[in-house]
Amino acid sequence: MAQRIHLIAAARPNFMKVAPLWHALAAAPDFEPVLVHTGQHYDANMSDAFFADLRLPQPEHHLGIGSGSHAEQTGSVMIAYEKIALADRPDWLVVVGDVNSTAACALVGAKLGIPTVHLEAGLRSRDRTMPEEVNRLVTDAIADVLWTPSPDADENLLAEGVAKSRISRVGNIMIDSFELVRPAIEAADVPAELKLDRGGYGVVTLHRPSNVDDPAQLARLVDALIEAQRGLPLVFPVHPRTARRLRAALFDSRLARAGVTLVEPLSYVRFMSLVTAAAAAITDSGGIQEETTYLGIPCLTLRDNTERPVTIAEGTNRLVKPETLAIELELALKSPRPVRCPALWDGKTAGRCVADLRRRSGPSKLPSAERGPLGFAADAAARHGPIEERRRASGRSSYRRSS
Ligand code: UD1
Repeated sequence: MAQRIHLIAAARPNFMKVAPLWHALAAAPDFEPVLVHTGQHYDANMSDAFFADLRLPQPEHHLGIGSGSHAEQTGSVMIAYEKIALADRPDWLVVVGDVNSTAACALVGAKLGIPTVHLEAGLRSRDRTMPEEVNRLVTDAIADVLWTPSPDADENLLAEGVAKSRISRVGNIMIDSFELVRPAIEAADVPAELKLDRGGYGVVTLHRPSNVDDPAQLARLVDALIEAQRGLPLVFPVHPRTARRLRAALFDSRLARAGVTLVEPLSYVRFMSLVTAAAAAITDSGGIQEETTYLGIPCLTLRDNTERPVTIAEGTNRLVKPETLAIELELALKSPRPVRCPALWDGKTAGRCVADLRRRSGPSKLPSAERGPLGFAADAAARHGPIEERRRASGRSSYRRSS
């Protein structure tokens, strides 16, 4: 019987991580992927457009959680997902990235004794004021299997005392998404639609609470963008969180008057069409630091730290302050672009994930009496640590596969 794998999709950056894995699992006879959308992002251009671009089906379960405080969002996802997990009894749970839904579902999986995998494990900014850093720490501490994108992630986990057997380096799944829809990205010509010269503009995204929720920091960033726009025309697809803040301070009209092109958030294909023809990206997103490294496009990250240092060491990324953005942009445009790309950022990560799941699931060499409550082989349990023990301790005999 095919193993049922719950894949949790919640917010915009998750969809590019879930899609390649969903496609690879759907093509494998021994796995049955089940998409669960928590509804953390819900606007058509923050969610549906990504499902369409990445050829994902309608999720089998939609939790409809929506926005809220961190506790509200995390708690609501836990309550709703626990019901689905108990009713559906997956063989594996895969959570991706670092959003609130990632940590929430991992907590549910761990407490129900569902073998839980974290895709994009081990990244650390070492800045616990970032909500994502807390989500990463929590998720990696409780997931059974940690799929990492780069050696620094393995090192972080090992330094935290994680057993080596729980870690599998699979590479960067975001690159799989890019390669999956590369023809559509190449066919779209969003720069032309926006009357921008190919290679003659910069693309901007900002949405981190530390940048946009603090009015003084947002004002500094607006000034920096206006200064940078004098050297390079900028186009700025505005995240809803940021749009609200810009509007409230009348910064949106200031930016527009200075010549910055403000647009609604774009779908994946349309956004990547804009990025691939850009001279540079200016961002506080994690994913864009990686995509620009893969594409060899200079990236200026408006943050004090990054959980993706490999994009600096081996890629095109540099951390900048608002005050130095314009000069750093000028320098980046003049500097030669590195042609190197981190190992295993090759579009084949989803295949490695499926192979790892298979390796960790069996084929069972053990008689059925030695298998766990979910049909999960005890030898695999021994490989990833205390799964079996936790199941027994939790006394969840109700969480037993009936078939
Ligand atoms: C979340 C993630 C962040 C990720 C980002 C990508 C957490 C803690 N943060 O941040 O890691 O990089 O997604 O976008 O999980 N909103 C809408 N429509 C939507 C979604 C959000 O209007 O479809 C607005 C709402 O006003 C909401 C605000 O955006 O309150 C913030 O959304 P939320 O999901 O809380 O966090 P993000 O800033 O998007």
